[in-house]
Amino acid sequence: MRKNIILIGFMGCGKTSVGGKLSRALHYRFLDTDQLLEDAFGCTIREFFAREGEEEFRRRETGLISDFLGSLGSTVLSTGGGMPLREENAKILKKLGTVFWLKASEETTVARLRGDTGRPLLLQGDIEETVHRLLAERTPLYEVAADYTLETDGKSFYEIIKEIENALRWHLMPH
Ligand code: S3P
Repeated sequence: MRKNIILIGFMGCGKTSVGGKLSRALHYRFLDTDQLLEDAFGCTIREFFAREGEEEFRRRETGLISDFLGSLGSTVLSTGGGMPLREENAKILKKLGTVFWLKASEETTVARLRGDTGRPLLLQGDIEETVHRLLAERTPLYEVAADYTLETDGKSFYEIIKEIENALRWHLMPH
């Protein structure tokens, strides 16, 4: 098994909640890239996007995970939904650990994100249209970035965590 567990997936798929609980179950450290970036920026992601723009945010995401190479261990790392958009990032994530894609349906995603005001990409336009468009763009990229895809619709946190543990034990470890 590689030494860290990386969670990727669209906004609202539960990366941060699952990551926190999974890290406690495994006695791993928990880190969340959005949280680390907000700490580094000294402002919210929404404010950072408004001030510096998305491209600069993407650059900072790459910088953050590059710095983990060679230093991160026994950690569950939750990533922002756009992290695997850059091919470079997807490669770095694979080097860092086993990458799990938490997948939720479009309907579930829209229901979870409706009314959200913290995510800059959702602030303009119609939520259904935005989620539909971004999911279509990103699904192939999540597919490429992931070692393991986990359908989360209708599953409890407990079930999701068990599935990750089983995947690590049975599917992803060399026998
Ligand atoms: C983004 C997802 C957000 C955050 C930023 C951009 C995206 O993270 O990094 O708003 O491009 O999908 P969550 O997936 O944790 O919401």
